[in-house]
Amino acid sequence: MTALSKETIETVKATIPFLAENATKLTAHFYQRMFRENPEVRAYFNAAHQVSGSQQGALAASVCAFARNIETPENLATAVSLIANKHASLGVQPEHYPIVGKHLLASIDELLNPAPPEILQAWGEAYGFLAEVLIQQEKGIYAEQSWNGFRKFTLFRKEEESAVVSSFYLKPSDGGTVPAYLPGQYITVRIPTADGSTTMRNYSLSCHGCQHGLRISVKQEKAAHADQPDGYVSNYLHEHLALGDEVEVAPPCGDFVFDADAAEKSGAPVLLLSGGIGITPLLSMLHASKGKSFPVSFVHGAIDSKHHAFAGEVSKLAQEHENISAHFRYSAPLDGDSPDSQGLFDREFLGQYLSPETEVYFCGPKPMMAHVLSVLDSIGHPADKVHYEFFGPAEELSKCPMHAI
Ligand SMILES: Cc1cc2nc3c(=O)[nH]c(=O)nc-3n(C[C@H](O)[C@H](O)[C@H](O)COP(=O)(O)OP(=O)(O)OC[C@H]3O[C@@H](n4cnc5c(N)ncnc54)[C@H](O)[C@@H]3O)c2cc1C
Ligand code: HEM
Ligand code: HEM
Repeated sequence: MTALSKETIETVKATIPFLAENATKLTAHFYQRMFRENPEVRAYFNAAHQVSGSQQGALAASVCAFARNIETPENLATAVSLIANKHASLGVQPEHYPIVGKHLLASIDELLNPAPPEILQAWGEAYGFLAEVLIQQEKGIYAEQSWNGFRKFTLFRKEEESAVVSSFYLKPSDGGTVPAYLPGQYITVRIPTADGSTTMRNYSLSCHGCQHGLRISVKQEKAAHADQPDGYVSNYLHEHLALGDEVEVAPPCGDFVFDADAAEKSGAPVLLLSGGIGITPLLSMLHASKGKSFPVSFVHGAIDSKHHAFAGEVSKLAQEHENISAHFRYSAPLDGDSPDSQGLFDREFLGQYLSPETEVYFCGPKPMMAHVLSVLDSIGHPADKVHYEFFGPAEELSKCPMHAI
């Protein structure tokens, strides 16, 4: 890979303030243009993210962050890994990059109306550089997968876990072996849409080392307002997928993973913290901790007992394994509920579980994630011991003002 020239870097940096100021406009324009001229890439994107604008912000933000860090690309390693995993989970291919690049440059040109040729040239080179980094990482991920693309799986068991969450047990329809995966990883489920196309969503595997097929556990997402549609895929799974039916599945992906062997070696305490449906990757990590000697605290927040998934499964693991302890915290218990404690994950509560050595893994709804991040930050918990997954475009979590778009 050829390094970018000093001139290219200077030119890109000089245009950032203007593009950052107009980032929302730029990306809205970009997506409209791309979907109009290359409708074949539309099926890769989640329509709900387009409505909320979160994905549009994500691409703009990463292009800007890349430009800001253009001289020190190592600062972007974490972001690049997350993006490459996301892309690989959806099957993004090298041939898609020129399409995205073309529409990004054309949008910059139209926004600057027109852009001087040296600016387009510089952004073209910079985009090509980042694209090459991502393509290489994605190639590495694809090479390690037990299959590429989508494979048919059959639903052979379905269990209700709470008022809103059900587990779906899937096995390969071709009778082949169930793929290996790391605790914390997710699969991609692809289902048909009414217009004859398809749509895809990621679902974390909620068990690890279990003697059955792949298990995902899905929250049924209802619309927040009567005039909005319910969540498409979660409702399809809950309402339409019957035992014996098939869905298409792409292989396990994701870098929010727990290495139980490394944890065993270090012996440091582990905190697995979750809120609501964010329990799924943490539960997989809990299963991977069975019979080990490092101490694991599994702390889960739910609204009340009706919304509390996997209470029995987690309690059983805690009873059967000396290194595991569990704590259930409800924010609004019902009459007769007896959680271990009541409230949110405030600083005082979290403080009991944190020593400077604690490896913290967490996942949950956006306000919880933002709050936990800020508590860990204010306590000064070492950043290399903080690991999290967010079930949406990740950039929404940062305090960075650009990410609010
Ligand atoms: C890495 C990862 C792991 C995940 N793991 C899990 C998991 O283990 N379990 C789980 O349940 N989920 C998980 N998710 C979330 C999952 O991928 C889906 O985002 C979730 O199921 C919602 O998808 P949906 O198709 O039902 O909703 P979508 O159709 O994507 O809609 C999302 C929300 O937007 C609203 N909406 C849709 N269209 C509009 C519109 N036009 N106007 C206004 N509002 C609208 C819907 O009502 C809904 O509330 C994970 C996500 C990621 C990224
Ligand atoms: C359009 C692109 C972006 C712009 C204009 C932007 C701008 C900013 C600004 C002004 C700040 C606060 C001050 C500073 O640190 O300089 C900030 C903070 C930050 N940004 Fe961005 N940013 C962009 C994209 C991104 C992306 C893609 C990421 C990560 C993948 C990112 C991660 C962060 C982080 C981690 C902080 C520090 C937040 C904290 O205070 O803890 N930014 N950004
Ligand atoms: C250098 C070029 C690119 C950059 C910097 C980039 C950046 C990003 C970022 C930051 C995210 C959000 C990740 C997350 O937080 O979950 C994302 C998601 C995504 N990207 Fe890219 N991307 C690039 C190229 C592409 C290409 C070529 C495609 C092919 C179609 C693509 C398709 C997607 C899709 C489908 C998603 C998920 C969107 C959703 O949730 O709806 N990207 N990308």
